Amino acid sequence: MSTERFDKAASEWDGKSRRVQLAKKISNAISKLALTKEMDAMEYGCGTGLVGIAISPAIKKLTAIDTSPGMLEVLEQKISTEALENIRTLRCDLLAEDYTTMHHLILCSMTLHHIEDARGLLQRFAEFLLPGGYIAIADLFSEDGTFHDADAEGIHHNGFDPEELKAVLNSCGLEDISHTTVHTIAKADNNREYPVFLLTARKPS
Ligand SMILES: C[S@@+](CC[C@H](N)C(=O)[O-])C[C@H]1O[C@@H](n2cnc3c(N)ncnc32)[C@H](O)[C@@H]1O
Repeated sequence: MSTERFDKAASEWDGKSRRVQLAKKISNAISKLALTKEMDAMEYGCGTGLVGIAISPAIKKLTAIDTSPGMLEVLEQKISTEALENIRTLRCDLLAEDYTTMHHLILCSMTLHHIEDARGLLQRFAEFLLPGGYIAIADLFSEDGTFHDADAEGIHHNGFDPEELKAVLNSCGLEDISHTTVHTIAKADNNREYPVFLLTARKPS
């Protein structure tokens, strides 16, 4: 899949206050999990690191993965200027490339709707989770397709029904599966509201 859209948007990404506000709500909700300084975490679709950077002080290290070189470049700049020593970036497509590292925590914020094989990605996440490890997925509840501009590329899902995602995680053997609404995005251009969920689950110890 082309990364052009995100590469182009990268330098201006953090300039939209609604993105920063959403990332704060998502990272606050993730912080309520039992995070520890022993945790080796991975964030998939990390973008400019709005969520991962907020979580990073509570864990040992974060592998921030994305397919967009432009997004990763912005995050690498932050890692350098803010001396974020426990974050490393990786350009990788987990559904197309080898990946073998196991993690105590896997995060994915506002990325799943860009993934055609969302079920396959959740299965990959479950594979890379250590026993007792957590998964935390934030995304839009099912919407009518008006969240993104009509000409936006790479939108494979108009949000999700969390119950359907729960069934996938359950079939992967995860437990303690639940979701909450963490934020509602109000879009001024169409005067509509789009709630966002955080779905969490745990691999049995
Ligand atoms: C809407 S942004 C979310 C960025 C960040 N997680 C946040 O919450 O601010 C979606 C991100 O997913 C990345 N992405 C899209 N398709 C991907 C794929 N197949 N594999 C990995 N990352 C992907 C994009 O490059 C982009 O950085």
